[in-house]
Amino acid sequence: MTVGNSIVPNHIAIVMDGNGRWATKRYLPRVAGHKRGVDALRACVRHCGLRGVRVLTVFAFSSENWNRPAEEVSGLMELLAVALAREVPQLHAEGVRIHFIGDRAALSDKVRSGLEQAEAATAANRRLIFNICFNYGGRWDIAQAAASLATKGEPITEASLDRAMALSHGPDPDLLIRTGGEQRISNFLLWQAAYSELFFSDRLWPDFDETAIDEAIADYAGRERRFGKTSGQLAPKTARQAA
Ligand code: IPE
Ligand code: IPE
Ligand code: MG
Repeated sequence: MTVGNSIVPNHIAIVMDGNGRWATKRYLPRVAGHKRGVDALRACVRHCGLRGVRVLTVFAFSSENWNRPAEEVSGLMELLAVALAREVPQLHAEGVRIHFIGDRAALSDKVRSGLEQAEAATAANRRLIFNICFNYGGRWDIAQAAASLATKGEPITEASLDRAMALSHGPDPDLLIRTGGEQRISNFLLWQAAYSELFFSDRLWPDFDETAIDEAIADYAGRERRFGKTSGQLAPKTARQAA
């Protein structure tokens, strides 16, 4: 399905920011905002599938988020474990393949085994690849890719690093969305976002609904992706794209 005159991005990546502020505005604990964030994410996965997006990558917990108060960190770990148990059967039924991207070494056995089970249960699904970045940092990813090449004695080139990177099973993001009003990358997909179109929204993540996703997709459709070339070098748009 098309949105307006749009070409739907193949791969959307999202920094889901603003859960804490959503809760604080309502005099609720921050973890209540994260819970509403899970609701928004469930709707987002479904909507992206309906729109024909093939890969969705979300930032759920950064390498730096360990620096938050212990209560919030443990609340987020618990929420991930509960959400996995609750959501994976439905995601599986919808043809979603789940991948976890990040450093698993620091996670508890309970969380790690939940991640592994979710990946194994959905491994044969093809409708939508859903990458959940958890205990992830773009710098960690580049460093672990370089370290794995060094261990194998392989030369470090753009192509070899790309293959050793955590998202090597899919294309780079076409559209990178950040909610919550901040205009920064915060150590998300530093390598893979080299040519992503950026979209910043003031909406807090729990309020980022289907309409907001469609607005981002429609905005993307109006961008000219030049990849270093000039406008004149690009193939003319087809009649449908230009309409
Ligand atoms: C994003 O929401 C979720 C995580 C980082 C885990 P925040 O918790 O950062 O919400 P704000 O930015 O404080 O509102
Ligand atoms: C980025 O949000 C990380 C996630 C959404 C998981 P943060 O709220 O941690 O980002 P900063 O610290 O404001 O840059
Ligand atoms: Mg934040």
